[in-house]
Amino acid sequence: MKDLIIKNAKVVNEGKILRDTSLLIREGIIEKIFREEVPANLLAQADVLDAAGKYLLPGVIDDQVHFREPGLTHKGDIASESRAAVAGGITSFMEMPNTQPPATTQELLEQKYQIAAKCSLANYSFYMGATNDNLEELLKTDPSRVCGIKVFMGASTGNMLVDNPQTLSELFSQSPMLIAVHCEDEATIQFNLAQAREKFGDAIPVTEHPKIRDTRACFNSSSKAVELAKKYGTRLHILHLSTAAELALFETGPIRNKKITAEVCVHHLWFSDADYERLGSKIKWNPSIKSANDRSALWKALLDNRIDVVATDHAPHTLEEKSRPYSAMPSGGPLVQHSLVAMLEMSRNGKISIERIVEKMCHAPAELFAIEKRGYIRKGYKADLVLVDTGKWQVTTENIHSKCGWSPLEGESFSYFISHTFVNGRLVYENNLPGQPGQFHETTTGERLSFKRDSD
Ligand code: DOR
Repeated sequence: MKDLIIKNAKVVNEGKILRDTSLLIREGIIEKIFREEVPANLLAQADVLDAAGKYLLPGVIDDQVHFREPGLTHKGDIASESRAAVAGGITSFMEMPNTQPPATTQELLEQKYQIAAKCSLANYSFYMGATNDNLEELLKTDPSRVCGIKVFMGASTGNMLVDNPQTLSELFSQSPMLIAVHCEDEATIQFNLAQAREKFGDAIPVTEHPKIRDTRACFNSSSKAVELAKKYGTRLHILHLSTAAELALFETGPIRNKKITAEVCVHHLWFSDADYERLGSKIKWNPSIKSANDRSALWKALLDNRIDVVATDHAPHTLEEKSRPYSAMPSGGPLVQHSLVAMLEMSRNGKISIERIVEKMCHAPAELFAIEKRGYIRKGYKADLVLVDTGKWQVTTENIHSKCGWSPLEGESFSYFISHTFVNGRLVYENNLPGQPGQFHETTTGERLSFKRDSD
């Protein structure tokens, strides 16, 4: 593999923006970072990319996606959704077990790794899924080769609810590794749903979604998860926080000092319940998008480090599925292609700095999961890199890559676009004009993530 030099970039890394900085990439690894001119002999023997005017970021690591393979590939598959991911600057993803069949045995889990090894453009890891009765299988999970154990403490797409108190105690006390949880209390949801049915019959409007999957459902469940984790000393990661009330459960501080960490998703930072009228089922997610007050509280907690990482919960469904009546309509939507540009747009609006976006979307997931040699622009690290250029564009069906072909962000304008994405030093995506679909280079696949986590 020929050397690659990316020169004159504005490198955003570890809290700083380093202007006029160049990188030498050799055999997929960041070999040297130059703050001065790159020597002519190195330039002569390398492929050279002039990044003048562009930001160079570590590739985004998304710790929560649903890529639907096996079994639900009419919604998306690992090849299609990993393409959308790299087009959005995501170079590594961690995928959820609610596929068909669900990844609840070691054999089924390994089958997903085998599919990804053949077709994923990005680096990958797959969560092992918990059920009420698969503890023995869970305990076989290798913490150095699997990102975590996923527990649905609230039912969502797929029937993976874990609600047996005995099972939860065993899981939290015996898990060999990080447990990532979806927290929504099923009894509260069912109670609220029955009330909505009484009022609306079968024609429940989507605007009721945040009242059915409400703050109490979230708080009851996440407080229970935190209580169990404190009791057993579990390494717990709570996914997609959506309410102000839950934020009191978390502490601020560096990730390495925490046993309990938290994630927020881009849709909970971008939308509020005022958007249901306009977007309806396209923003029906579990947990639901809640009020503008909740959104402000999530921003505050993200910036003061009670929330550690930003992810997508990318969860594609077809438009036909999303147009069914409320109770039959699945929750979730595609986001991997737009999470970074949406966050960058929010940096333009003064919500967050670009340095902190990199902290929350690149460095923090690498720290939180103890991913080896990724998440930073450092000598000796894997060259997972994204070049971001400025240029106005709009999300339209023509430039969407997710298989489902729609986005809750259609019609939104962004001021930044992804011009190049490198995975393990190889260019996998490039786009010279904002708003164009760009081109994929699919000669290689990403790598299985590995984890160095003796401290879980
Ligand atoms: O809205 C959601 N959709 N939340 C989840 O937890 C699951 C996801 C899906 O798989 O569709």
